[in-house]
Amino acid sequence: MYSYIIMNDTIVSPSILSADFANFSASIAEIDASGAKWIHMDVMDGCFVPNLTFGAPLVRALRKKTKTFFDVHLMIANPSKYIHEFAEAGADAITFHYEAETHAHKYLTEIRDLGKKPGISIVPSTPCGVLEDILPYIDIALVMTVNPGFGGQVLIPECLEKVKKLKQMRDKANLNFRISVDGGINEKTVELAKSSGADTLVMGAAFFGSPDKRALIERVQGTIPL
Ligand code: DX5
Ligand code: ZN
Repeated sequence: MYSYIIMNDTIVSPSILSADFANFSASIAEIDASGAKWIHMDVMDGCFVPNLTFGAPLVRALRKKTKTFFDVHLMIANPSKYIHEFAEAGADAITFHYEAETHAHKYLTEIRDLGKKPGISIVPSTPCGVLEDILPYIDIALVMTVNPGFGGQVLIPECLEKVKKLKQMRDKANLNFRISVDGGINEKTVELAKSSGADTLVMGAAFFGSPDKRALIERVQGTIPL
């Protein structure tokens, strides 16, 4: 019911890291009213990244508020321990970090077997070549374009080279995963990200800071040219 992996379109995934933590229901309603296709949820453990956010109970609670695709980004150590919990809570995609899991192939397969979309993410210091052998097992490659942990940072432009390379790797292998960029995406950087090959754009501060979210989403998802 919540599946939403269609290629050749642009998806904006507003990150609730920049939402009002005292009123997530209202923030979810704002995202839905904007026309954004996904909702990005950054799970942070204070260990893999230097910040703490929330866990599966929030995903479960928000699942009752919307049918929109939940794009869950696990920025945690030992992500394999939590895959079942997030799947049961209502995640649609579960993305974990390459740097946090030795047995990525095993757990990407497990996520797919649970009926969810598997994703793998890399931080700015990880080269994209390490993903080559697991690309057939993913639906999302999430390229961090800032060092993870906090919203509102400035995009590191060198990370977009990895987006270009991943697109080439995808074309060469004739695969079908989405390429997502996460960190510092706003109306100034979005065209660069899209022209590099990103088709999925996580947006935290820029989305929640926008006075007209619907117009922003229309421009970025592509119905009105920037
Ligand atoms: C950063 C998180 C991002 C964050 C992006 O560590 O993974 O998802 O919400 O925030 P902005 O768009 O504000 O850079
Ligand atoms: Zn994220």
